[in-house]
Amino acid sequence: MSGATVIAHPLVQHKLTHMRRKTTPTQDFRRLLREISLLLCYEVTRDLKMTTQTIDTPVAEMEAPVLAGKKLCFASILRAGNGLLEGMLELIPSARVAHIGLYRDPKTLEAVEYYFKAPQELDERLVIVVDPMLATANSAISAVERLKKRGAKNMVFVCLLAAPEGVARFNEAHPDVPIYTASIDEKLNEKGYIVPGLGDAGDRMYGTK
Ligand code: URA
Repeated sequence: MSGATVIAHPLVQHKLTHMRRKTTPTQDFRRLLREISLLLCYEVTRDLKMTTQTIDTPVAEMEAPVLAGKKLCFASILRAGNGLLEGMLELIPSARVAHIGLYRDPKTLEAVEYYFKAPQELDERLVIVVDPMLATANSAISAVERLKKRGAKNMVFVCLLAAPEGVARFNEAHPDVPIYTASIDEKLNEKGYIVPGLGDAGDRMYGTK
């Protein structure tokens, strides 16, 4: 699949506008990100495979739907990925979690890995890779490559904002991994920021500079 699926739900779009405002304080930014992550997770997991279990209600026995297969895995690209991860884990508390530490070399904008930890049997799990900003896509491309090396076969990438350049590069590198986002913005600027964007997601989330 090429391009990206934009989750145009009115609640997502409304909350995103508040997050973009430069006057939105850290505490509100974090809360909004958590709320949006619940809505994105809901959309992205729409087609999860189901099976049934026989259960007893207080009234009768029934064949009731439950999720099939191995627990899914969230893969958070540190550190901003954790903002999306936390909300998603509230919705799917049984999920496994991978952490991938990558920083952007400020000069080359290339992704450099400093940490990687992932659960076993990635090949049998849906892996939902999360990072709020798909800018140059360097980190996202590296993270997905690393997860593929560890066996992941069924992945989706979820972000809050994407730059068209990042979407194109990611699609080219990983045509088998669909992208879900709340918005595809106008462009990347010369410093690698998404325009109009929302600034540095990690800094805004944690109140750093
Ligand atoms: N990372 C961010 O946090 N913001 C951008 O605009 C681009 C990359």
